[in-house]
Amino acid sequence: MDLNWPQLWTHLADRFGLGDHSIHGPDHWRRVERHAVALAKHNAGNLVVVRLFAVFHDVCRENDGADPDHGARGAALAALLRGEWFDLPDAEFALLEYACIHHTSGYLTEDPTIGACWDADPPRSRTGAHEPDRSAICPIDVVVRHASLLFVSIQLSCRAYPAWRSRRIV
Ligand SMILES: [Fe+2]
Repeated sequence: MDLNWPQLWTHLADRFGLGDHSIHGPDHWRRVERHAVALAKHNAGNLVVVRLFAVFHDVCRENDGADPDHGARGAALAALLRGEWFDLPDAEFALLEYACIHHTSGYLTEDPTIGACWDADPPRSRTGAHEPDRSAICPIDVVVRHASLLFVSIQLSCRAYPAWRSRRIV
């Protein structure tokens, strides 16, 4: 079965219930698709899966705020339309399903296809899910930061106690 992307997009855009002004509507899907395809190409991810993710991951949102089950609903809709609108082998559909269900869970992945999906979806980064892990800061950063603080402290001390500074300089 040839996947007719324009028809699939139109079908899903018509099903989307939040209107043209939603930040999670087709304009957003298009941006996610563009970024996901670029990332998937770079990392040898599956292009069909990431394109399907783009169009399914937010289509079943019921609001633009907290809607924790919208990814699972999108995956369920994809399962419903599979075979009618598109074909996908089981292993690839499993990637699509997982990516949709967990795209707001804050999980990390080493799979290039799922990673492309999640990294391409801006709301995920807005929620802080991709913030750097502060506990993983390199120890040398801590040393440099503490050394800087020590230097500033010494400077302040010198200003406060000019006599001490003059003794030290001499
Ligand atoms: Fe999204």
